[in-house]
Amino acid sequence: MAQRLDSAGLTFRQDYFGDPAGWPALVCLLKDIFGIDIGPLQQLGGHDATSMPFGWFDAEGELAANISAFALPFVLNGRIVHAAGLQSGAVRPAWRGRGLYRDVTVKALDWCDRQGFEAVILYTDKPSLYEPYGFHTIPLHRYEGAAPAPSASAAPARPLLPTNADDLALLQALLKRRSPVSTSLAVTVNAAMFLINTQLDPDVRISFLEDRQAVIAWRMDEAGRFSLLDVVAADMPSLAVILGGLRIAPASVEVLFRPDKLGWQGVPKSLKGGTRLMLRGLGDATLDFPAMLSTMAEF
Ligand SMILES: CC(C)(COP(=O)(O)OP(=O)(O)OC[C@H]1O[C@@H](n2cnc3c(N)ncnc32)[C@H](O)[C@@H]1OP(=O)(O)O)[C@@H](O)C(=O)NCCC(=O)NCCS
Repeated sequence: MAQRLDSAGLTFRQDYFGDPAGWPALVCLLKDIFGIDIGPLQQLGGHDATSMPFGWFDAEGELAANISAFALPFVLNGRIVHAAGLQSGAVRPAWRGRGLYRDVTVKALDWCDRQGFEAVILYTDKPSLYEPYGFHTIPLHRYEGAAPAPSASAAPARPLLPTNADDLALLQALLKRRSPVSTSLAVTVNAAMFLINTQLDPDVRISFLEDRQAVIAWRMDEAGRFSLLDVVAADMPSLAVILGGLRIAPASVEVLFRPDKLGWQGVPKSLKGGTRLMLRGLGDATLDFPAMLSTMAEF
């Protein structure tokens, strides 16, 4: 664990999750700045083991500034890109405007380069913060369309509760051997993000199609629109099988990932507002299709 004392009395630490006070300090920073509680991740298998946090701590052990890198390989046109993700970027108000965020960002990107990551991705609502470092925005899309007739032969799904120990073990095993949801663009492993995202949005439902060994993350709104957020499976079931297993016949469907394995076609609609996905690296490669990554991988 690297340490260095700064003239302002802050101490820089890298790789500090091994310090028993380190992880709670990050939980506290994210709660204070974003109002998001990632504490429950400890009961869901813990933080992503590839995480590499970079932070400035004050004398009381409180985190003043942080950014964390982690491995986030994704499939792009059939090839696995060895990418890193950046997340948990924040500076406490009292410490802003002194270059602390620039400092941790530069350190994190240097580390990513030294590790040999081909690309770095992040989500942000402040794209201009990252453009100076070579990040550019990837426009995201949801896919909208009519619901296929639910498959009559599909066995019924059951709800899965990540907070139940048996269900968690099952979910973790399936996350380990999942296939990317798309051959054109999808993350390959995102277990920690998937698990914490099941807890952050109370409307997300997690269902298990036992005969297909598939976990479905989904939502339904009052208008009867079915939103498919993610499918964790070695072999993707079709949308018709998913609807049959869930025993629902929605008025319409939206899919929040590239739907090329679902046996269904939706019309891409630009996702406006909210957070943006940004990419650094991969040269001048541009995506020649409407892009989307599962919102369960969002971090
Ligand atoms: C955004 C934030 C991280 C900036 O922290 P900071 O320590 O004040 O930033 P720095 O002093 O290191 O400034 C770094 C650069 O970012 C710029 N910057 C600062 N705040 C910015 C903002 N809100 N939008 C765009 N650029 C910003 C600065 O002008 C500076 O530019 P420079 O390198 O050309 O001089 C901090 O305000 C914060 O935690 N905000 C709430 C959480 C958040 O938005 N996190 C990041 C988004 S994922």
